[in-house]
Amino acid sequence: MTWKVTVLTLFPEMFPGTLGFSLAQKALSLGFWSLDVINIRDFALDRHRSVDDTPFGGGAGMVLRPDVLENALESVLKTTETKNPALFYLSPRGQVFKQETASTFLSTPEIIFICGRYEGLDQRFLDYYKIQELSIGDYVLFGGEVAAQVVLETCIRLIPGVIGTEDSLCEESFTKGLLEYPHYTRPFLWKGISVPDVLTSGHHEAIRSWRRLQSEDITKKKRPDLWLAKEPTPLPSKRKREKGLSKDVQTDGLEI
Ligand code: ADE
Repeated sequence: MTWKVTVLTLFPEMFPGTLGFSLAQKALSLGFWSLDVINIRDFALDRHRSVDDTPFGGGAGMVLRPDVLENALESVLKTTETKNPALFYLSPRGQVFKQETASTFLSTPEIIFICGRYEGLDQRFLDYYKIQELSIGDYVLFGGEVAAQVVLETCIRLIPGVIGTEDSLCEESFTKGLLEYPHYTRPFLWKGISVPDVLTSGHHEAIRSWRRLQSEDITKKKRPDLWLAKEPTPLPSKRKREKGLSKDVQTDGLEI
């Protein structure tokens, strides 16, 4: 089944962008995913095709008008097959996108990304359509287009069949809460540095455990936050168990 993606943007020429190359492009042409790009400006209400206005209350920048956005979004909702496609607005204010979020996105057959520019979108539009905000990290971009491509690329790689060997997906960083082990190839000796002996030993079990240890060490050193999150959760206190709070595990809060 095709994973159906729609992007609303003021810069449709930015798509498919990086997704028009290599495996993402191949997956697109083979129908693993589809992309509809909607130009928000096509839904402007005046002859100047304006899409934004100054913020009520004053302040810098411009805000995208809710009526223009409504027209753009309704034009898409009219054509969707699912009643409630997932709606996301790319914004530094959103929940941070993670590897594990990508597979939940793929479980929804249709997904719509709204890319903002300027100061952002009128809040009423986000509230009315219950649009979830999604960030790719704690920094601010000019707009959501690059962020949408980051999210999409992460998801497209995970569509079964897009990457030749599914093994590479199992082994890669974040899949098991660990960073990936180091890789080596020919020549065996380069600038006087040789490849770790175990990798040429032919002992598959030894190689597996060496890689596992490397992954653990690298994760501990480079991302202690990931390592700590991986540790088995301690048993909840007696008080928490009694109050039924033991299930309050943290999720990233995104609903699909
Ligand atoms: N738009 C601007 N900055 C962003 C970010 N960090 N993540 C997602 N969308 C954005």
